[in-house]
Amino acid sequence: MQLDDRIAIVTGGANGIGRGIAAVLAQRGAHVVIADIDGQAASEVARSVEKAGRKALVVEADVSRRTSTDAMVAATLAAFGRVDILVNNAGVGGGKEWWSRTTGNSGDWDRTYAVNVMGIVHGIESVQGHMKERRQGKIVNIASTAGRRASAWFAHYSASKASAINVSQAYALRLAPFNINVNCICPGLLWTPLWEKISERRLSTVAAAQRVSPREFFLQQVKANVPLGREQTPEDVGKLTAFLVSDAARNITGQSINLNGGSVKN
Ligand SMILES: NC(=O)c1ccc[n+]([C@@H]2O[C@H](COP(=O)([O-])OP(=O)(O)OC[C@H]3O[C@@H](n4cnc5c(N)ncnc54)[C@H](O)[C@@H]3O)[C@@H](O)[C@H]2O)c1
Repeated sequence: MQLDDRIAIVTGGANGIGRGIAAVLAQRGAHVVIADIDGQAASEVARSVEKAGRKALVVEADVSRRTSTDAMVAATLAAFGRVDILVNNAGVGGGKEWWSRTTGNSGDWDRTYAVNVMGIVHGIESVQGHMKERRQGKIVNIASTAGRRASAWFAHYSASKASAINVSQAYALRLAPFNINVNCICPGLLWTPLWEKISERRLSTVAAAQRVSPREFFLQQVKANVPLGREQTPEDVGKLTAFLVSDAARNITGQSINLNGGSVKN
């Protein structure tokens, strides 16, 4: 699954899953644009992409703003002359300090929709003109197993991810006549800064005597919910992304693929 000299933008590429996606795409030969609000962490990822022998570009971008995704695509075109791949991975669990609340407030609903849904819409809207002109392009959106199954306390997040799945299907239909593939990945349980905060949030409601470390709590969830019995990793998501953006997947579009060790099957 080689991606030699393809130009890939990874939003939210500075941490967690995005970092894994950037690393695998670079290993397969792609040059990677790391677009994130966290410019410092993005620079670290850029250095590791360069160590792998590929070119890297850091773009400080906030995908909740269309002007910012427009600037992200413009910076990529200025540096590399084209965009072959867009991975809309940036995502949040809610508004400021969402992990300190028992259930989401209106700010959490607003922020998850602004980043997890509109971030995808903005990314695609910014790049689609260029991809349509070239009549080629690969887009992968990162949703979640949470988008397949409602959650009592994390409703705003689950609903935003269900929406991300639907938005992916809509754009797959809209862009298919231009030979642009749009697919979606629904990861399960991955130990990233995001899940660290989920653990902290869930542990805050557990009696002190039963409290374990955030990592231990996460592993308990894996044991209880994952038939294969192991956590998923950012590298797993990177490998599936690399497949979906490769020529081997040229006839796959509009799909939402679970990567969750068997925890949710629909
Ligand atoms: N960790 C999991 O178990 C898991 C499971 C399913 C889906 N996901 C999804 O995978 C994606 C990555 O999650 P993660 O666990 O790596 O999270 P993370 O919090 O570790 O990393 C998210 C990255 O997105 C960036 N980001 C946040 N808001 C942004 C914005 N407005 N514009 C640009 N960048 C922004 C952050 O700076 C960070 O680098 C998210 O969409 C998340 O919802 C995660």
